Amino acid sequence: MTQSQVQTVVADPASVDAAIESRFSARAFLPDPVPQDTIRDILRVASRAASGTNTQPWKVYVLQGASRDALVDKVCAAHNAIYADPAVAAQYREEYDYYPEKWVSPYIDRRRENGWGLYGLLGITKGDKDAMHAQHQRNYRFFDAPVGLMFTLDRVMGRGSLVDYGMFIQSIMVAARARGLHTCPQAAWNGFAKIILPHIGAGEGEMLVCGLSLGYADEAARVNTFHTPREPVESFTRWLG
Ligand SMILES: Cc1cc2nc3c(=O)[nH]c(=O)nc-3n(C[C@H](O)[C@H](O)[C@H](O)COP(=O)(O)O)c2cc1C
Repeated sequence: MTQSQVQTVVADPASVDAAIESRFSARAFLPDPVPQDTIRDILRVASRAASGTNTQPWKVYVLQGASRDALVDKVCAAHNAIYADPAVAAQYREEYDYYPEKWVSPYIDRRRENGWGLYGLLGITKGDKDAMHAQHQRNYRFFDAPVGLMFTLDRVMGRGSLVDYGMFIQSIMVAARARGLHTCPQAAWNGFAKIILPHIGAGEGEMLVCGLSLGYADEAARVNTFHTPREPVESFTRWLG
């Protein structure tokens, strides 16, 4: 769409809503490959996302096949090493604070509800550390999705670029839905930037923003029945007249 954006009528608003509302964080994917043209199309559409002064600060690395599998092996090994000896975690750190240092209500409550809801659905109890570790590690297998995306940001950019990035990634997830695909955005990778950045060939000046799994969701997987709640509009909106 290069002309008359102003005249474009969204003929079917229900489809737009369906693409947005059917997006969820899928955590089990089928091995079915995703055509390269489809991935390119999704990225092209998503690149229409707004960004401050049109800076378009995103940089995307698409991992498939051998590059995907090799990264999975490296990060799973590091994740296992930390599990065997928690002191090893000191070697890894996130490049920016995605989560707060100190959790407070109501966010901590929602976080707990989310975590235990997911583990509960999978029958994983609080004391079952091995099962928790294994489930957490599914992040580092892209939940079996054939495509992994890694997003980086030039370190010279400001915090506002992370706002732009959110819009871009949401657009990817919605455009994926329009093509029968599902996604899971993943901050779980962030702590392993030290492994990921050299693996993908990112330059010195790039910071890892997060990863994302992309593929066809496994409809038979119990984990994909997990449905997260939302606060009603009135609870987060003040109407000023
Ligand atoms: C930037 C970002 C990072 C996330 N990181 C992870 C992750 O590492 N692993 C995971 O399983 N889910 C991750 N999530 C998914 C959230 O848990 C999920 O969006 C939230 O619980 C709402 O559920 P929904 O996406 O199914 O609507 C992430 C979401 C966002 C937006």
